Amino acid sequence: MRYDSITEAIGNTPLVRIDPAVHGLRNIDLYAKLEMLNPFGSVKDRAAWNMVRPRLAGAVERGEQVVELSSGNTAKALATLAGLHGLRFKSVTNRMRVPEIKELLLLLGAVVEELPGRSECLDPTDTDDPLTLFHQALSQEGTAYLHTDQYYNPRNTEAHALGTGPEIVKDLDGRAPDWFIACVGTAGSSTGVATVLREHDPAVRVLGLVARKSDFIPGIRTIDEVHEVGLFDPDTYDAIEAVSSDEAIDGMLTLNRRCGLLAGPTSGAAYLGAVRHLRTVDEELTERGTAVFIACDRVESYLSYVRQRRPELLGRAPHRDTVASLTEGELSAVTSLDVADARRWIERDRPLVIDLRGPHAYAALHIEGAVNIVDDLFGQLLRGGLPFGTRQPVLLTCPVGDRSAQFAALLTRMGHPDVRSLSGGIIAWRDAGAPLVRD
Ligand SMILES: Cc1ncc(COP(=O)(O)O)c(C=O)c1O
Repeated sequence: MRYDSITEAIGNTPLVRIDPAVHGLRNIDLYAKLEMLNPFGSVKDRAAWNMVRPRLAGAVERGEQVVELSSGNTAKALATLAGLHGLRFKSVTNRMRVPEIKELLLLLGAVVEELPGRSECLDPTDTDDPLTLFHQALSQEGTAYLHTDQYYNPRNTEAHALGTGPEIVKDLDGRAPDWFIACVGTAGSSTGVATVLREHDPAVRVLGLVARKSDFIPGIRTIDEVHEVGLFDPDTYDAIEAVSSDEAIDGMLTLNRRCGLLAGPTSGAAYLGAVRHLRTVDEELTERGTAVFIACDRVESYLSYVRQRRPELLGRAPHRDTVASLTEGELSAVTSLDVADARRWIERDRPLVIDLRGPHAYAALHIEGAVNIVDDLFGQLLRGGLPFGTRQPVLLTCPVGDRSAQFAALLTRMGHPDVRSLSGGIIAWRDAGAPLVRD
């Protein structure tokens, strides 16, 4: 194999059968499409190259900077492609939650700008979100940015309709699989592949996977973020199911330890989600079926993600008091206050108000007197025990009231007698017209 440019090595990834002794399905052959073997490491290499390629002519002369709203694989691919073509790259995101990826981007010479966006994926309907406002500014004429616009650019989907989908059909001897399973981020890969597979066989069933409510699997949406925006079309999917970060890591471990695939958490989510779904139909099949899932990227970038959630896998002491270990009972026992009650309580008992949002969001607007400890850091702090006395009442706040409720449950389990959560979070507080201050 001899190439003039590394870009020629994008695509044509292997389709590898998973050993039935590992997945346990009796009547279904399950294959992984190894997008992790693309040259920059992920499924996003195809989309990044297809989006940026037609815009390259004259970009250096015009002094353009490639820009994308991405905190992960799209940014990694674009940073590499920009460098290859003598361009600079800027990644704009709400918060880089995977330190290895942020450091890799900086190593590649990227500018990383973190804005106080509210969700992991862009929600263009949320016009109060600074990330949305930045996205709108990029769409205006006359900027010096080459904005690839992965959430709206049809060339994102097209990359998979021209490459990933047809490759799967070719490797299955001209047939579409009976099931196709993919994690959903921008929805470009699942939409592009599903379109092509259905052209071959309209009966293909498509399963989209997202992260469980208030959970985090790097690169994909949560169930709360599956809105009808950008490239996402609910009609693409026969079903959308949620996977927890714990399940994604379990699936990843199976791929890593039993299948010879050094794939990351979304590959694990896709594998586990696929097997869980297919088990419900496997026994009733009268003919052999075929299923394909996407292995999106590699494991190496996610060691700190694993260390945070499952330290025992890396030879460290396990954490007992974690959000992931909370039971439904613990969560439903949390005292959540609506805005009026919270205001009265603050007035009367002066609880310590802890704002779990990112520092930009806090700086922009917060409840007077609140201290800012971002949720990930707060989780780490709690591993050392209760960080304040039990006589100090505590009110926890976050964007919409979900994270604060989880941490309230955790503090209660750890022995704090009076911790409460602001129901609906800072958004409810703001919508109720309650006072907020800015730094
Ligand atoms: C690791 C990982 N898995 C899955 C996806 C989902 O791909 P898509 O954006 O095509 O929906 C992404 C997207 O960034 C990703 O980074």
